[in-house]
Amino acid sequence: MFPLLKMTRITVVASIGLLAACSNDYQPSENTTEQEMYEAACASCHTGSAEAPNKYWAMDSKNANKTYISYKVKAGGLRMPKFPNMSTNDLEKLSVFVLEHSTIK
Ligand code: HEC
Repeated sequence: MFPLLKMTRITVVASIGLLAACSNDYQPSENTTEQEMYEAACASCHTGSAEAPNKYWAMDSKNANKTYISYKVKAGGLRMPKFPNMSTNDLEKLSVFVLEHSTIK
């Protein structure tokens, strides 16, 4: 009875760890440009394609706004890390950059 209970609890804890987005502690300095932020924090995962070398994202039109993008960067996703140390001002600049470099579907 008891050993079984313990096993279940360990399994639950392990599953939560797998589901939670990991966190990236990247923090730009005051004068970091949005291009530099992209290169430092996003380019490892979001890149252009042969057909659209300057478009690093493919966004659904309903998500193509600064509020959604800022939220996404702050909160992360299932596979995308969250960036809790980016300021509102950083997120504002970066969101404009994302919109300029997105194919809107
Ligand atoms: C470790 C890889 C990784 C890094 C680094 C990363 N992303 Fe992502 N991003 C993803 C993945 C995978 C998805 C889609 C799945 C998900 O939401 O987890 C995604 C989704 C997004 C979306 C949503 C696109 C849509 O159509 O809804 C935006 C916007 C985005 N990322 C912006 C950024 C920005 C800006 C940065 C840099 C600050 C960044 N990402 C860094 C992996 C990453």
